[in-house]
Amino acid sequence: MIRKLGKNKINISDWARNRYENEDFENMYGLNASKCSSTDDRFEFMFSQERPLDLIELEQLLQSVGWSRRPMRRVKKALDNSLLKVGLWQHDPKFPRLVGFARCTGDGVLHATVWDVAIHPVYQGFGLGKELMFYILRSLKRKGIERVFLFADPGVVAFYKSQGWQLEPKGSKCAFWYAN
Ligand SMILES: CC(C)(COP(=O)(O)OP(=O)(O)OC[C@H]1O[C@@H](n2cnc3c(N)ncnc32)[C@H](O)[C@@H]1OP(=O)(O)O)[C@@H](O)C(=O)NCCC(=O)NCCS
Repeated sequence: MIRKLGKNKINISDWARNRYENEDFENMYGLNASKCSSTDDRFEFMFSQERPLDLIELEQLLQSVGWSRRPMRRVKKALDNSLLKVGLWQHDPKFPRLVGFARCTGDGVLHATVWDVAIHPVYQGFGLGKELMFYILRSLKRKGIERVFLFADPGVVAFYKSQGWQLEPKGSKCAFWYAN
């Protein structure tokens, strides 16, 4: 990244610092990682689809928002079979912390469904959830996916609605089947 200063002068030390910083980010979060903006300027946050997820850390995150524990082996399989997995990391050069997560399943071409959207309670209210949803939709759009679905808990319907999601019309088009 090169930043022009003043009359088109390039500050070499800034350029070098940015370059090394970007290389560090790439090494930690993968080639397609991107920064996530937030209203909490104490921390830097990164989206990554490539940084390996620690299953225990992920389960702790999902439990922190009140979801019940799931068998680790099945979670691993579900992740392996997902179309898209996004970790949101609070950046730290030594110990990045997983503070948000979402994943999608689907056919990879036409339809996708979003699951497990979670932001750790300590980091809620700083715009991260909204950015995570934008990131997910951008990534799905790049794959050419035309329709995206999700199942919202009643307490978060307004969160999605404010971002342009529509409620399934008149409750007439949805069907569920549960094995148990
Ligand atoms: C829902 C969740 C992902 C939102 O994340 P967040 O980082 O706190 O949300 P943001 O800070 O990005 O909020 C963005 C906007 O949505 C609003 N918002 C956040 N949570 C909301 C909620 N539950 N209901 C209505 N609006 C909400 C915010 O006020 C903010 O509004 P603004 O843009 O006008 O300022 C997070 O609260 C969470 O992980 N909840 C527990 C797990 C969960 O229920 N996940 C959804 C499963 S369907």
